[in-house]
Amino acid sequence: MKVEFGSAPVAEEVIKECLHRSEGYDLEGFLLGQGAIPARIMFVGEAPGATEIVEGRPFTGQAGKVLEEYLEKLGLTRQDIYISSAVRSRPFKDKVVAGAAVGAIPRISRSNRTPTKNEVLAHAAILDAEIEYVQPEVIVPMGNIGLHRLIGSHETISSLHGRAIEGPIQRLEDPEDPQSRYIFGERSYSIFPLYHPAAVIYNRSLQEVIERDLQALKHFLAAKNNS
Ligand code: URA
Repeated sequence: MKVEFGSAPVAEEVIKECLHRSEGYDLEGFLLGQGAIPARIMFVGEAPGATEIVEGRPFTGQAGKVLEEYLEKLGLTRQDIYISSAVRSRPFKDKVVAGAAVGAIPRISRSNRTPTKNEVLAHAAILDAEIEYVQPEVIVPMGNIGLHRLIGSHETISSLHGRAIEGPIQRLEDPEDPQSRYIFGERSYSIFPLYHPAAVIYNRSLQEVIERDLQALKHFLAAKNNS
């Protein structure tokens, strides 16, 4: 089978509709996921940050460095997998920087933030389309945002990380209906949740758990390969 590297060819109308649905939210920029098409394994993060929007490539900032370490430990490269996220624009938060002189134009500092449920819903048709094109067997949600997007929010990453769950994933019931909600599709996937790479940057004590989870994922992928 011919494998290409790049972004899934998500239809222009799907992207336009998602951008239209996210009007009014504090989101900026846009970039699709990237990787091998088709790919056996798809990683699903949260949303791009400032670096990713500037570089036009997912996971190129600080969290990207940690993701590269994940891949190295798994014996994989970006050429072997597809990387996407629940939201494909950068959620931001503006704050007035204190300390400006009286009468000076206030300085605004813009930072990344976690996407809201409505933002994830507004971009849902894009991830659905990417999954359709990439045809992964194993989906690795990284962090709660990716996990909840795929299986709903009844469980958290801290209870499900490091082991495979077999089952269907959520997709939009009717991508053309702006009020559409999620339904579970018919196809079953191996879903292997991991902590988001940014989690270890903020909480170094997760390092050991993540190492164990990556070993478990490596074994899982090898066993699946041989079955
Ligand atoms: N975090 C994500 O979830 N995606 C990126 O592309 C970067 C950081």
